[in-house]
Amino acid sequence: TRRITVRDITAAKERGEKWPMLTAYDAMTASVFDEAGIPVMLVGDSAGNCHLGYDTTVPVTLDEMTMLSAAVVRGTKRALIVGDLPFGSYQEGPVQALRSATRLVKEAGVQAVKLEGGERSHEQIRLLVESGIPVMAHIGLTPQSVNAMGYRVQGRGEEAAAQLLRDAKAVQDAGAFAVVLELVPAELAAEVTRTLHIPTVGIGAGPETDAQVLVWTDMLGLTGGRVPKFVKQYANLREVMGDAAKAFAEDVVGGTFPQEEHSVH
Ligand code: KIV
Ligand code: NA
Repeated sequence: TRRITVRDITAAKERGEKWPMLTAYDAMTASVFDEAGIPVMLVGDSAGNCHLGYDTTVPVTLDEMTMLSAAVVRGTKRALIVGDLPFGSYQEGPVQALRSATRLVKEAGVQAVKLEGGERSHEQIRLLVESGIPVMAHIGLTPQSVNAMGYRVQGRGEEAAAQLLRDAKAVQDAGAFAVVLELVPAELAAEVTRTLHIPTVGIGAGPETDAQVLVWTDMLGLTGGRVPKFVKQYANLREVMGDAAKAFAEDVVGGTFPQEEHSVH
């Protein structure tokens, strides 16, 4: 089995095929999704909230992303692995972006990187692509800018919609092979999807994008507390794991685990 490539992903849009993407932050979870046939996995900096215990993605470091990305690459055989460039690892300019992306490609073995920003990041995207590193762009709500924009729907109103379209065209012109649209009105995401020749990957962007991505801990019901409206929970892992932990604790306290069958002599 060979890994899915960026070219396979581009060809899917030409054939009108939709595809799923999930985040992954560790080898074991990634191997489950790989065996389930998920073609693209994102080692998202959502690891900050969902894996490392930070409140936002802002504190996540390139060292952390490199370690997590390497684990996901080791845990998979078939999926295309995209590594997220964390806040502060590409904003200084194209050369910094190339240095950071090169680490993810060489040390972790990812096949592509993702970074946030449309027009504002087009120079970074262009240099990475010219250097042979495929780039997935990310526009609309960009969580690394939470301190400036909050977590609000983006692209509402004529001016904001026009800006989103400019951002989408800018990342396509710069050479991005795909673009994430986060928390934008479904109608606008549909228009962007029709306008671009590269695939759009929606999260909270309605049903018309070429692909859909969810954060795996949200999708499987492991995340505690409130999850966003755009999440669909396909399982309740938080309950499953909590119940199992309680049952184990009861067995130990009650002396019913281990039994003979779990013992060696
Ligand atoms: O970090 C992440 O999980 C992401 C996706 C939500 C697109 O950027
Ligand atoms: Na991210």
